[in-house]
Amino acid sequence: MTLVTDAAAPTAPRIAIVGATGAVGSTLIELIEERGLRYRELYLVASARSAGRVLTVDGREYTVRAIEEFDFTDVDVAFFSAGTSVSQKWVPVATEAGAIVIDNTIAFRMDPDTPLVVPQVNAHELDRRPKSGVIANPNCSTIPLVRLLRGIEDRWGIRNAVVSTYQAASGLGYSGVEELQESTRASLQGPDSGFEPQHFHPTLAFNVIPKIDRFLDSGFTMEEEKMLQESRKILGLPHLDVTTTCVRVPVANCHSESVYVECQSPVDRAELVEVLAALPEVRVHDRETVTSFPTPAVVDSSDIVHVGRIRATQNNPRAFWLWLVADNLRIGAALNAVQIAEELAERGTL
Ligand code: A2P
Repeated sequence: MTLVTDAAAPTAPRIAIVGATGAVGSTLIELIEERGLRYRELYLVASARSAGRVLTVDGREYTVRAIEEFDFTDVDVAFFSAGTSVSQKWVPVATEAGAIVIDNTIAFRMDPDTPLVVPQVNAHELDRRPKSGVIANPNCSTIPLVRLLRGIEDRWGIRNAVVSTYQAASGLGYSGVEELQESTRASLQGPDSGFEPQHFHPTLAFNVIPKIDRFLDSGFTMEEEKMLQESRKILGLPHLDVTTTCVRVPVANCHSESVYVECQSPVDRAELVEVLAALPEVRVHDRETVTSFPTPAVVDSSDIVHVGRIRATQNNPRAFWLWLVADNLRIGAALNAVQIAEELAERGTL
């Protein structure tokens, strides 16, 4: 749903973007412009390093402010996308000042007073203002997954799902993409390039790394644990059996996922295609021919979840595989946050 831009509208919210100079913050700005999100005032906030930088939004120039100097009293909605430690410190300051926060970090996702929202799945959580004053934006791989699992659960019931992710460097922001580019150049130069990775260990160039975020005692990583716990919370299925392996791949942007689902009852491929294609903002690529499929390079900067390789398994009529690709900066972060704001505005919750 698109709202009309009308900066003069007296009822439109005053919006702050914390992390406005980063990869997700910049994507938020693009989406606000593209979708005509209505606002009365706009404040761009980042670290002291960026204070004074001038960015243009909807044809107007805005000076970036350092968070330490920023007063949240004048803000109705604050998007936070500046890392977990920034959210832990500054989100309480913003909510105390009266702002409603849409937070893109892990800081509040599992807090019982904070709804974890994917508007296509659980928008009803936005009917009233949350107790904490915060609405959490889920993990970038969880968002496209639950958007598909919702339709599958409703039609067949999910017994269990097994997921492998193929996650892009942009999941770590601009510095992740820059390191992928630099490490690729260094690898081509040869072993004496002197390149030392800062973010991806071992180097991501010409490599894949089966570790995202820190290891837990269980042997799973925090990223894998987030996908389990967040999927359960969003879908309202506390015993949902989803197990994942999260892998970083040398792709600049767009996460992919290989998904195996076993259902409670037999699944017909044609009906599965119909169910997935009918979900909001989802495109099935192998609707007519099983040989077409989405890839990150082809679907980059897209606002829909792309699905392909839909295969019924031969030895289990209740099970199937699919492949999904979604822009992690848009679908997996900024677009979900903007769609939360649009839903809040539509419901009059702001
Ligand atoms: P800055 O550009 O001033 O460092 P990315 O995800 O692309 O790495 O971007 C992170 C975003 O979070 C940037 O806008 C960055 O601002 C912002 N940021 C990082 N650390 C802080 C901080 N301590 N206080 C406020 N903003 C921060």
